[in-house]
Amino acid sequence: MPNLVSTKELSQKGRDAILALAEKLEREYKKGKLKKYLEDKVIACIFFEPSTRTRLSFESAAKRLGAQVISTENAESNSSAFKGESIEDTARMLSIYADAIVMRHRQAGAAHAAAEVSERPIVNAGDGANEHPTQALQDVYTIKSLLGRLENLNIAYAGDLLYSRPLHSIMPLFSTEQKNNFYFISPPELRLPLEFRKALEGRGIKFTESEDWQKILPEFDVLYMTRVQKERFPDAGQYEKVKDSFILRSEHLKTMKKDAVIMHALPRVNEIEISVDTDPRAAYFRQAENGLYVRMAILLWCLGIK
Ligand code: CP
Repeated sequence: MPNLVSTKELSQKGRDAILALAEKLEREYKKGKLKKYLEDKVIACIFFEPSTRTRLSFESAAKRLGAQVISTENAESNSSAFKGESIEDTARMLSIYADAIVMRHRQAGAAHAAAEVSERPIVNAGDGANEHPTQALQDVYTIKSLLGRLENLNIAYAGDLLYSRPLHSIMPLFSTEQKNNFYFISPPELRLPLEFRKALEGRGIKFTESEDWQKILPEFDVLYMTRVQKERFPDAGQYEKVKDSFILRSEHLKTMKKDAVIMHALPRVNEIEISVDTDPRAAYFRQAENGLYVRMAILLWCLGIK
């Protein structure tokens, strides 16, 4: 059964299967006809880093599909990792207790290490600043549902592109789509890392980088604001310098396309003024809702249930 550790390892067929399943589950859920597809399953959620949306939407998804959930939050201190147990041994144990394991960890590569030894599917719920594949799938689902397409789009990411794991995970999901342009807007300190820029070049995906967005705001079909991630900075002074580099305010909306989509993985700190929330283009809470349907689909896909 497949893991979902990195979107680099997810084929277009896999991506499309998850998106189609999510659509089906959303329809069933909204009609009150969601079936208990996971009635005999146990899902483990182990989170070594804080989370509101990812952990609770996975737990909600699993329970709504009829599964039992076993869960550890704050696993750094509440699991036997506190006593020095390795991620591999933890994964071996969980793969005895559960049918699928959803894991968030502060170390890049932790989900890969767990998948190497686990007998059950591992779902990467975020590994450090590396990847967040379930968020990226939820984001692609949101773009497709709101704009009706995944091609011929101008997609801008603004803020912290160095540590943004949703951004790192979304780019491979656009590999097979045509005529998209990415705009990466950040201060130099938070530029998209070289490996990701090289990967885009390798896939023939066009992108431009900028330290200012004033002139290019009218071009965007999607504007994805990212939180500057204080917890990732080695030095508090560096964070203070760049923390408010890009703040989306009501005045910016005047120059944006009428049908643009404004996204954010949440949690937000300062990146989007509260006044923007009532604009019809603000999609970040719908995006979070879509996480429920997409995570239901991911659990079914990992467990080979259609
Ligand atoms: N978007 C996201 O991953 O949110 P949480 O950190 O609350 O899970």
